[in-house]
Amino acid sequence: MGLLHRLRRRRLAGKRAIVTGGSSGLGRALAWQLAQRGVDVLATARRGDRLATLEQEWRAASRSSGSLQVIAGDQTDAVFRQQLIDTAGEQLGGLDLVVLAAGSGAVGPFAESSPDTLQKIMDVDFFAPTELARASLPALREGNDPAVVFVGSIIGRHPLPFHQEYAAAKAALTATAGTLRMELAADSIDVILATLGPIASEFWESLLVGQRASWSRGRAMPAERAARRILRGLICRRHEVIPGLQAKGYVLTSRLFPRLFDRCVMRRAGLRRRLFRSRASLPHQDTPDSSERSAEPPHDGSSS
Ligand SMILES: NC(=O)c1ccc[n+]([C@@H]2O[C@H](COP(=O)([O-])OP(=O)(O)OC[C@H]3O[C@@H](n4cnc5c(N)ncnc54)[C@H](OP(=O)(O)O)[C@@H]3O)[C@@H](O)[C@H]2O)c1
Repeated sequence: MGLLHRLRRRRLAGKRAIVTGGSSGLGRALAWQLAQRGVDVLATARRGDRLATLEQEWRAASRSSGSLQVIAGDQTDAVFRQQLIDTAGEQLGGLDLVVLAAGSGAVGPFAESSPDTLQKIMDVDFFAPTELARASLPALREGNDPAVVFVGSIIGRHPLPFHQEYAAAKAALTATAGTLRMELAADSIDVILATLGPIASEFWESLLVGQRASWSRGRAMPAERAARRILRGLICRRHEVIPGLQAKGYVLTSRLFPRLFDRCVMRRAGLRRRLFRSRASLPHQDTPDSSERSAEPPHDGSSS
């Protein structure tokens, strides 16, 4: 990919995009903002009612040249992934952008977790976006200034205890983005990694397993602001976008001072670990823990 290509800002208007995670949080914000910028968007997630509301709200509010259509399905289903790409071809007339924002998390001690949880998190956070990117390649190669956006996490750059499944999946996704960025340059397909810190969304209320530990909470950035930063990165052809000072600080300090960083985290998590044990708070355990889970401090609207 030439220097001139890298210097030229990407024009979003007129592009055709698939956006996953469109029913909530970051994916919804990305779908909306892309459509506002003149992109024809096909947004997807499992909850069809949420997607229908998004589509209706767009129709009621929009005066821009973009469009927003929706299709409901589970991204871990290979048949649905192909249907998504086929629908983009039929309804949008092709594909230029694939924005992979859907994801889910799990929290809890590794020793007490299960292969099922690991498989589910790897499926939704790693295999599904990776395979959707692969299946999109034939369409993207025919596209106009094409790009793939992977949504990772600071926890994928440097892990936290009690987040084994999620950290592993996001680390794998981070590596995939790095690999594809080099490989797909030959096809003039850009690859952008969004490494997110805390985002205000439904993420921590929708965990597959466990609940958020209070020690891991941070100040959350509104999903709309994170989406704007990601779109700016897409326009400016950045390799990686790390929205917010908190996320940048996490990545930088964990890289510069990894042992000190780990010690600080372990001190906080060690306290938390004792709480985990005394409350026996894992949902898959057959103990009277579920009533005690309400002893968790109320969610403060912050994330990650
Ligand atoms: N929130 C944070 O603090 C944070 C921090 C770092 C990274 N991230 C990453 O940011 C991305 C967006 O998360 P968010 O904060 O916006 O969370 P969110 O509000 O919970 O949104 C997650 C989206 O993923 C969709 N989804 C989950 N499982 C799916 C499946 N099997 N098939 C299809 N869609 C599925 C959900 O829709 P349905 O339930 O309708 O399917 C929803 O639209 C995720 O990749 C997450 O890992 C979030």
